[in-house]
Amino acid sequence: MASPKFGMSILFFFLCISFCSSTDQSFQQCFSSHLPPSNITYDVIFTQNSSQYSSILQSSIRNLRFSNASKPRYLVTPYNEDHIQATIICSKEHHMHVRVRSGGHDYEGLSYISDVPFIVIDLFHIRSVMVDIKNEYAWVGAGATLGELYYSISAKSNVHGFPAGSCPTVGVGGHISGGGFGTIFRKYGLAADNVIDAKMIDVNGNVLDRKSMGEDLFWAIRGGGGASFGVIFSWKLKLVRVPPTVTVFKTVKSLEQGATKLVQKWQNIAYKFHHDLFVHAVIQVTNPNSNQNPTVQVSFDCLFLGTTERLLSSIQRSFPELGVTQENCTEMSWIQSVLYFAGYSIAESADVLLNRTTQSTQSFKGKSDYVKEAIPKTGLEGLLKMVVEEETSVLILTPYGGRMKQIKSSATPFPYRSEYLYGIQYMISWDVAEETGKRIGWMRRLYKYMEPYVSTAPRAAYFNYRDLDLGRNSYPNTSYVESSEWGLKYFNHNFNRLVRVKTLADPHNFFWNEQSIPVLRLE
Ligand SMILES: Cc1cc2nc3c(=O)[nH]c(=O)nc-3n(C[C@H](O)[C@H](O)[C@H](O)COP(=O)(O)OP(=O)(O)OC[C@H]3O[C@@H](n4cnc5c(N)ncnc54)[C@H](O)[C@@H]3O)c2cc1C
Ligand SMILES: *[C@@H]1O[C@H](CO)[C@@H](O)[C@H](O)[C@H]1NC(C)=O
Ligand SMILES: *[C@@H]1O[C@H](CO)[C@@H](O)[C@H](O)[C@H]1NC(C)=O
Ligand SMILES: *[C@@H]1O[C@H](CO)[C@@H](O)[C@H](O)[C@H]1NC(C)=O
Ligand SMILES: *[C@@H]1O[C@H](CO)[C@@H](O)[C@H](O)[C@H]1NC(C)=O
Ligand SMILES: *[C@@H]1O[C@H](CO)[C@@H](O)[C@H](O)[C@H]1NC(C)=O
Ligand SMILES: *[C@@H]1O[C@H](CO)[C@@H](O)[C@H](O)[C@H]1NC(C)=O
Repeated sequence: MASPKFGMSILFFFLCISFCSSTDQSFQQCFSSHLPPSNITYDVIFTQNSSQYSSILQSSIRNLRFSNASKPRYLVTPYNEDHIQATIICSKEHHMHVRVRSGGHDYEGLSYISDVPFIVIDLFHIRSVMVDIKNEYAWVGAGATLGELYYSISAKSNVHGFPAGSCPTVGVGGHISGGGFGTIFRKYGLAADNVIDAKMIDVNGNVLDRKSMGEDLFWAIRGGGGASFGVIFSWKLKLVRVPPTVTVFKTVKSLEQGATKLVQKWQNIAYKFHHDLFVHAVIQVTNPNSNQNPTVQVSFDCLFLGTTERLLSSIQRSFPELGVTQENCTEMSWIQSVLYFAGYSIAESADVLLNRTTQSTQSFKGKSDYVKEAIPKTGLEGLLKMVVEEETSVLILTPYGGRMKQIKSSATPFPYRSEYLYGIQYMISWDVAEETGKRIGWMRRLYKYMEPYVSTAPRAAYFNYRDLDLGRNSYPNTSYVESSEWGLKYFNHNFNRLVRVKTLADPHNFFWNEQSIPVLRLE
């Protein structure tokens, strides 16, 4: 090939002769014309007619509820910044919306569905992880999963880790830009609190880092969601020091064993525990015996950053009612605790964390709340009564306090720090599409029931547990006023600053979605 750039065009042209409409040809010609000369050819753009289109699109759809949703006109799978830049420029030229996907775990599928003609940029090729133990940081591509990040750190050190979520297939692109918490966040804060630099491609196709984007934009993408501001390419993360030995226990209590009373007590103490001690409460339905009616059980799952001996002296003093003894505790390395909380055996090789396949066969709906004052007994009893109605419901109560209490609520867009005892995640899943209405109906009733017991003004919610019931932008000319309600729920007093940053970074609201930060006025 005489000219590499010409070579790219020929390649696309060839594909297009057999498969594409003339719009496709012109999009792809635009794309290749914006790439610098290169002798490497990639398969970057997939049209709906491409044989790989469907498998790539389905590869990271985590919520089956959206498997029949409208499909993107193109799937773009960039290998480098230039591909992203060209996609942004050509999408604008062709009046196409863009959705960015890293791990595809968005609760409402906003990374791969849209009601208007759109393109998905799927970052799964951008997933290198470069770990520098000497200087205690890592650069990680936005398309990497948490599992890939944790694996790469543990391959180099058994006393370093990173404080992010416990599901290994979650993508760092969405997760870290929306906050990100896991089993060690009471000690180290959110994932977003531990970002020290980032590379992002903005609405004009410029590649920005912390210095060139400025502190306002750098603040916004650490909790305010990346999708409103650009395409995050990579993060520079501060690694944290973990002890060589950590300890876990799991104690499951039924209602008959006093689970309600234990949750009552837990509410008042878990947020005050030493920051090395994390104990969350998982409320689930059990059906011990098919002749019996389903009932509820609560599992108190612990990760302690230290040995069994220290853990026992702490938990037996602060929560004796749990009855934890040495026999209930297992010591392991931090990376084994990652496997443990991901549901793997700790005897398994850490390689399983590299498996990106989710193969979910279920639909789900999630919601979140934050609690400032312990819920009274009657409130808890009513809650458990509702939980028992739906066998696939799961509630996870996550204690705050510790490091979360020390960080100012305006330090990042994530505002729920010192005043909050714990967060609640409500989750329900189902197999058949016909049940969707019933299940979501139950979830909404539960949310209504909880109103008197949780935070108000605003009723706080976690952005990474996206919930379109909270409100949505209307397309395409969203005004600030109409969408402030859900924005306040996710970001509270930080919402106004996010709107100001968005207005400067993307004044024409190119990076719009149903819950993107709105611009002050459309120019
Ligand atoms: C099974 C499961 C377990 C979870 N566990 C936890 C947990 O332990 N802790 C926790 O805090 N959260 C958890 N979450 C929530 C999770 O943090 C969010 O769903 C997160 O947004 C997922 O990121 P993603 O990249 O996988 O998702 P995606 O669906 O790819 O993206 C989510 C959002 O971020 C945007 N986005 C993604 N990548 C980029 C990028 N590179 N640049 C700009 N915008 C981007 C998308 O457009 C979309 O709006 C869990 C979710 C699931 C489904
Ligand atoms: C797919 O191919 C058919 C003909 O084979 C064509 O009519 C259609 O426009 C193509 N669709 C896309 C999205 O390229
Ligand atoms: C591409 O270009 C580089 C640098 O000019 C060269 O080293 C390499 O061999 C070339 N690769 C191919 C496949 O032509
Ligand atoms: C998707 O469509 C298929 C075929 O019409 C249907 O059987 C299935 O139930 C639908 N799935 C969902 C989640 O709506
Ligand atoms: C602790 O372990 C013992 C022995 O295996 C078991 O009987 C007990 O139920 C466990 N306690 C808790 C609180 O899980
Ligand atoms: C990856 O995970 C999927 C889903 O759990 C599983 O079906 C598959 O066998 C795993 N692949 C490997 C190579 O372990
Ligand atoms: C938004 O667009 C709709 C339809 O195009 C129009 O009726 C409405 O007035 C517009 N609103 C604003 C605030 O521009």
